[in-house]
Amino acid sequence: SFKPLVFSGVQPTGSLTLGNYLGAIRKFVALQDNHDCMYCVVDLHSLTARLVHDDLADQTRAIAAAFIAAGIDPHRHIVFNQSRVPGHAELAWIFNCVARIGWMNRMTQFKDKAGKDRENASLGLLAYPSLMAADIMLYRATHVPVGDDQKQHLELARDIAIKFNNDFSERIEQAGLSVPVTMGEEKVNAYFPIVEPLIEGPAPRVMSLRDGTKKMSKSDPSDNSRINMTDDAETIAKKIRKAKTDPDGLPTEVDGLKGRAEADNLVGIFAALSDRSKADVLGEFGGRQFSEFKPALSELAVSVLSPIGEEMRRLMADPGHLDAILWNGAEQANGMAEKTLDDVRQIVGF
Ligand code: ADP
Ligand code: NA
Repeated sequence: SFKPLVFSGVQPTGSLTLGNYLGAIRKFVALQDNHDCMYCVVDLHSLTARLVHDDLADQTRAIAAAFIAAGIDPHRHIVFNQSRVPGHAELAWIFNCVARIGWMNRMTQFKDKAGKDRENASLGLLAYPSLMAADIMLYRATHVPVGDDQKQHLELARDIAIKFNNDFSERIEQAGLSVPVTMGEEKVNAYFPIVEPLIEGPAPRVMSLRDGTKKMSKSDPSDNSRINMTDDAETIAKKIRKAKTDPDGLPTEVDGLKGRAEADNLVGIFAALSDRSKADVLGEFGGRQFSEFKPALSELAVSVLSPIGEEMRRLMADPGHLDAILWNGAEQANGMAEKTLDDVRQIVGF
């Protein structure tokens, strides 16, 4: 039976947050039954955050452990790390030659991360979205579950696919490698599918609990309000108790969350953790004070995260087992990648 192919990645750049869980990992788990899934620890990407890591192999294992502890079955799906599949870097090079510098310069993540001294940012940071496009297209995946912060990068991945398909259209035809590809409402003949981001849900961008204007990020060590997937019950409760809110209680309608970033964030987190809509959560808590809502949110967060954190620690105690899963995943991924690369080499003319 044909199942759509899902690809997504998480960087080994620090302790996983509630944002990573709700924006990405929880969705990975939900997609397992109706899709073939490839979940990748994107260690090549992590060099754009910091070149020298002392514990990259352990960080990589921790992300794989989080995938598995959250419920991903590594026997039915592929869990692996990017650096073990050289095809990611090879396809990224070709995409570097397809993509335009102007496209990369417009990326808000690049602007944020490069800061004022853009000339001194690494070339890798600029080219990050090109490697991300290669990650997905190396397997000709069609669906990519991510948080809202990755939306712009996925639009760029679509642009790269479209330009590759256009620039090489005659050669794709000549090689007999053209297949029907869905583009919006139409089907066109091309090689690379145009990826669909899967971003929906009540918490597509979990914001910092310190204030509702910055996203919660594992790569931001200065934000100690962030909830980590491995936090214990007391720590989770304390962080939620301290979360910034406004003086009003909870509105009874979703419209009442407009202009109230902190309230919207907490309601969204509650909804995502319980697979409910924000409207449904407000149906229960509307009109009540945060002093009542926060303990309920803590209890919910602890009930979801504690068993995952515990399982992560159990898995991390056996690094050999995690390494075996990653090796096996990389072997399968390499087999799939080689098929695409054979085609691409033929299309380019190598
Ligand atoms: P981070 O930005 O935390 O270092 P990554 O870049 O490794 O995380 O992203 C891993 C996945 O987690 C991506 O799909 C990203 O969109 C998602 N993600 C990261 N932060 C958040 C957040 N605050 N809310 C929702 N999704 C998030
Ligand atoms: Na990110």
